[in-house]
Amino acid sequence: METTSNNMIKVCKTSELPHGQSKCVQASGKEIAVFNIKGKYFAIDNLCIHAGAPLTDGSVDEEKCQVTCGWHAWGYDLSTGKCVTHPKQDVFTGTYSVKVQNDEVFVIV
Ligand code: FES
Repeated sequence: METTSNNMIKVCKTSELPHGQSKCVQASGKEIAVFNIKGKYFAIDNLCIHAGAPLTDGSVDEEKCQVTCGWHAWGYDLSTGKCVTHPKQDVFTGTYSVKVQNDEVFVIV
């Protein structure tokens, strides 16, 4: 893992994260899941708020820009972190900004 001075954590080269795929990076004591959705990148905590499953193991729906947890099917909007299957309207997981620079993907923490 590489960190720059302005808290940009290098994830990988763009060619190493194909559409519909995800990758996990460690940053600030957390695991962050980075997703490629049709060429746009999104980052959320890699921890399902239901029971802690890694969201990188979930299934990605590029049309809806969502990931569904592999353990009990809670769904998350990757752009907002909102849990879309939770009956309450205000349940979110953490989100992070992603930047692409010189064909490399960075998450900002
Ligand atoms: S741990 Fe993710 S839905 Fe249960």
